Amino acid sequence: MKAIGLRLVLRVAVIAVAFSATARAQERSAANVGGFEAKLEYCKTCHGLSGQGYLGYFPMPRLAGQQPDYIEAQLKAFIERRRTNPIMFNVAHVLSPSMISALANHFHHLNPAPFGGAPHGAVAQGKRIFEEGLPESNVPACSACHGTDAHGQREIPRLAGQLYPYMVGQLSGWSKQRGQGTAVDTSAIMAPTAHNLTRSQIEAVAAYVSDLR
Ligand code: HEC
Ligand code: HEC
Repeated sequence: MKAIGLRLVLRVAVIAVAFSATARAQERSAANVGGFEAKLEYCKTCHGLSGQGYLGYFPMPRLAGQQPDYIEAQLKAFIERRRTNPIMFNVAHVLSPSMISALANHFHHLNPAPFGGAPHGAVAQGKRIFEEGLPESNVPACSACHGTDAHGQREIPRLAGQLYPYMVGQLSGWSKQRGQGTAVDTSAIMAPTAHNLTRSQIEAVAAYVSDLR
């Protein structure tokens, strides 16, 4: 039973990624997008001068090196309120599709060092979860989707260097924020995994990936 559940999750992931791959190779150039620099400056006030993330009242996630398809997909999810976040709804709903593409492309090419600062006690356990999963809890290896280097692919996000408190918050509150509304979206691929991790397992795996380059 467990093996079947796991295989199904992986198959759904592959299908979702294949669909999203269509026609995304369009130009993502900042040239010709009016107001690009000003908008970029605005993003950086929260997400850090080189997109490395920032610890404010809320943790601001790292965008540097992130997959452009993922950035675009999440901005659309904020706009359509499938991912409910009042700050990012306000930011995103005014962006044109070409601005979204240009910003996604820009952040993808930044490569600052990880923000750091995670507790290190459980890093070895986190590495094991990332590479092998937790078969007894029906948790697949994170690397199966996020890549062995944790750099992600297409709509599956990069986790390498992502801020520890941000990841802990996302994984522990997954379905409060994502997958809202009636349509099933890519957040459903990750939901069972997020639900099957305990708090201490979340902290361990988040600490491990937050230091990866
Ligand atoms: C006022 C602060 C603020 C500004 C300005 C801002 N963001 Fe955000 N952004 C956030 C916060 C906070 C989150 C995390 C939301 C959550 O908890 O889900 C976030 C999340 C995101 C995410 C999801 C990241 C992930 O890993 O899932 C993307 C993509 C994003 N922002 C892009 C942008 C872009 C592009 C701009 C500029 C147009 C921008 N943001 C401007 C605060 C901000
Ligand atoms: C079956 C494929 C799959 C597996 C296995 C998987 N993920 Fe994911 N993960 C995804 C997808 C797809 C998303 C994007 C979800 C969305 O669109 O909201 C995601 C998103 C995330 C996010 C949100 C990142 C951000 O920037 O907001 C975190 C954190 C995460 N996964 C951690 C993990 C961890 C830790 C594991 C292993 C215990 C894992 N994932 C295993 C597919 C997977």
